[in-house]
Amino acid sequence: MDTQTLLYLSRADVESVALDMPTIINLLKAAFKEKGQGRVEMPPKPGIHTQPDAFIHAMPAFIPALKSAGIKWVSGYPQNSKRGLPYITGLLVLNDDETGLPYAVMDCTWITAYRTGAATALAAQYLARKQSQVAGILACGVQGRTNLIALATLFPIQRVYAYDILPEVQRRYVAEMSAQLGIEMIGVGQPKQAVVESDLVVTSGPILKHPTPTIEKDWLRPGAFASAVDFDSYWKGEALAQFDKLSTDDRAQLRYYRSIGYFQTTPDPYADLGEIVAGLAPGRERDDERTMAMNLGLAMDDMAVAPEIYRRARERGIGTRLAL
Ligand SMILES: NC(=O)c1ccc[n+]([C@@H]2O[C@H](COP(=O)([O-])OP(=O)(O)OC[C@H]3O[C@@H](n4cnc5c(N)ncnc54)[C@H](O)[C@@H]3O)[C@@H](O)[C@H]2O)c1
Repeated sequence: MDTQTLLYLSRADVESVALDMPTIINLLKAAFKEKGQGRVEMPPKPGIHTQPDAFIHAMPAFIPALKSAGIKWVSGYPQNSKRGLPYITGLLVLNDDETGLPYAVMDCTWITAYRTGAATALAAQYLARKQSQVAGILACGVQGRTNLIALATLFPIQRVYAYDILPEVQRRYVAEMSAQLGIEMIGVGQPKQAVVESDLVVTSGPILKHPTPTIEKDWLRPGAFASAVDFDSYWKGEALAQFDKLSTDDRAQLRYYRSIGYFQTTPDPYADLGEIVAGLAPGRERDDERTMAMNLGLAMDDMAVAPEIYRRARERGIGTRLAL
């Protein structure tokens, strides 16, 4: 272990490592299994809020089984797209679990995009029907892309209905994702069209503390799975109440968010994803169940993936050494 320097990985460095989605899903699976068995240290994320509906969160976690310890310092600014800047930006620090020394600092934009998609797919592996073929994506940004890439890794998706509030963004998404995944992509003019025929629905628009949600009761058909990457911003309370199984990635964090004003109409989850992956709570039990993953995004997700990015970057000589 080099105790004199750390490895800095810029956004381009992390992107050039290009860790593949099946590996990311497997890393998350291992981490969630540990969490389900109570072997992950992860305090609820504190944050500061410099603009309405914006956040900068501190997200520390330690996964002993993966020897992974560190923190992500991540911002989410809904107005950034108007400035030509990403919604999500930030840095991640990895610490040696024996000495505490920081050994890597990396941009966290890519990792946040991909691990969130992978968490959706992991939940879907347990909660969606195996033969799910039709996906609906509401909001065609970064998460709209990585969530679809992750779901297409695990499911035989034949067709995708895509909706974005900005027609030009939607058009670009349809063109790019059909070229990348070779799946039939249909841009739709109304959110409802992206929900009613879909087996897998992802909502990935802005997170709002006081949302004016769109998706109504009965739009989602029985047997479908949904992932609310944007919390409850897209789903009316009556639609959320209709899910037979609503899971989350961390009940304590959901309770915390509820206490500060979010999730006022979201029912209590029946299980944490960790409990489901560890076999302590059931996944889907019937073909006609409506199921939802309300994943808030955990520090553990980042710490499951970041050491593998570091290892591959080192192997390939990617990144810049900085003195401690
Ligand atoms: N739960 C998690 O773990 C997690 C992790 C990362 C990001 N997020 C959240 O995911 C969301 C998307 O992040 P991103 O990085 O993809 O942002 P992005 O800016 O790349 O994409 C957001 C998209 O939403 C579109 N949009 C805005 N309002 C809409 C509406 N009403 N209907 C449809 N589309 C609409 C925008 O045009 C844009 O294309 C954010 O709310 C972010 O906070 C959640």
